[in-house]
Amino acid sequence: MTEDEIRRQLEFYRDLGIKSVYRRQHQTTAAAAAPAPALSPEPAKPITESQEITVVPPLEPAHDNLLKILQDIGECKRCRLHEGRNRLVFGSGNEQAKLVFVGEGPGADEDEQGLPFVGRAGQLLTQMIEGTAHKEGIPLTRDQVYICNVVKCRPPENRTPQPDEMEICGQFLYRQLQAIRPKAICALGSTAAKALLATKDGVMRLRGKWHQWRDIPVMVTYHPSYLLRPYNQNAKKEAWDDLKKVLHFVYD
Ligand code: URA
Repeated sequence: MTEDEIRRQLEFYRDLGIKSVYRRQHQTTAAAAAPAPALSPEPAKPITESQEITVVPPLEPAHDNLLKILQDIGECKRCRLHEGRNRLVFGSGNEQAKLVFVGEGPGADEDEQGLPFVGRAGQLLTQMIEGTAHKEGIPLTRDQVYICNVVKCRPPENRTPQPDEMEICGQFLYRQLQAIRPKAICALGSTAAKALLATKDGVMRLRGKWHQWRDIPVMVTYHPSYLLRPYNQNAKKEAWDDLKKVLHFVYD
């Protein structure tokens, strides 16, 4: 591995929120052939950039694509969210999309259909995308963008995903974004903003301004579920403004 590749990989782990990585000793052929001592892993040693990484698997395989990522997720049981799921919700839309929307996690309708944003919040999102684009003279339909979530399985009672669930599922979100490499990402709500920007700031503070995930511009706006609540109607205008900014940036 070159120094540059090591640096890139460490940056990738940092983006995932992983604070330290460990290396195992090289195994000689004889040692590899010998049975591994049961339940006695050798003590982990923190690595620095100048040391050689030997066993950390690449999280972003070369020539990654959505099908490969979906196959790698498989019948996922990596976290507790699989226990209550009917269907895993991977994402939908155009693999070559210039714009990706990231939500929080599937709700009941999405869990039933295996597709993101197909319930009430989804209908509002479709209206927001297509209605705003139409008003701005941009011919765009929902199937031309890509839509996915931070976690792929429905959290019980639609609760907010927990940090470990976000971290485990985050590796697949990151691979999706890296495989698509859109011109911009729109983070819907605070869970998506937290996952992409590693920030504790809320949507009100973050929205309307450009941020970055790796080198891709990210706009944060309100989650459509938030906009469906009658007492949040003022936020609708702001969400529409945010979306206008994104659409002009991506499609002008
Ligand atoms: N809310 C989300 O965050 N994602 C969906 O797919 C549906 C509702």
